[in-house]
Amino acid sequence: MSRADAENRPADARAPIRRGGMTLRATTPDDCSFVVEVERHPDNARHVEQWSEAQHRAALTLPGTRHWIIEHRGTPIGYVVLEDTDDPNGSVLLRRIAIISKGRGHGRNAVLLAAHDCFEVLGCHRLWLNVARDNRRAFNLYRRLGFVEEGVARESVRKGDRFLSMHVLSMLDREYRAAHQL
Ligand SMILES: CC(C)(COP(=O)(O)OP(=O)(O)OC[C@H]1O[C@@H](n2cnc3c(N)ncnc32)[C@H](O)[C@@H]1OP(=O)(O)O)[C@@H](O)C(=O)NCCC(=O)NCCS
Repeated sequence: MSRADAENRPADARAPIRRGGMTLRATTPDDCSFVVEVERHPDNARHVEQWSEAQHRAALTLPGTRHWIIEHRGTPIGYVVLEDTDDPNGSVLLRRIAIISKGRGHGRNAVLLAAHDCFEVLGCHRLWLNVARDNRRAFNLYRRLGFVEEGVARESVRKGDRFLSMHVLSMLDREYRAAHQL
């Protein structure tokens, strides 16, 4: 399937991506209450932007956005959102990931499945993300997976009356293939 075909498939027709007991399946409108529950969980809320259920529903049909439910052995445990999958430079943003059962390797596997979607399903070139400087768990996860730190986007995210600086990290298609191909 070409990249254009993969991008244009309706969300509910997108093939799930599996690795071991973990699956990414296309988020449906009915999943959005679960997504918001995960996002608002006290362990997650301080690390990820907060959207309403309606904002998540709207994101499901945005061109260039791939919104996935993360399942472990058939049970939803989180979600991950990719944006700019139609970017002409093949540079995809891992916009958001959140998981409810942490520290069990689920985040690692879910990021690898999202990278598989980016590089192998869509044929894109670069996967990048922002992570807040105080989010050590997420930063360590990305570094261990081989994401390269590109720099710091200084005070680029407003949070209440503060501005947060973000690490910018990326992985390239050849780096993914050398280290992780499924
Ligand atoms: C970030 C997140 C997705 C990671 O998922 P997870 O299932 O907890 O992560 P894993 O169990 O796969 O752990 C991966 C790595 O995180 C690191 N890590 C785990 N716990 C940590 C901690 N308390 N402090 C620092 N690093 C930690 C380790 O390097 C671990 O690698 P290892 O297994 O090789 O030791 C998850 O914790 C989460 O939803 N956090 C809140 C939302 C969030 O921060 N999203 C990312 C925004 S950029």
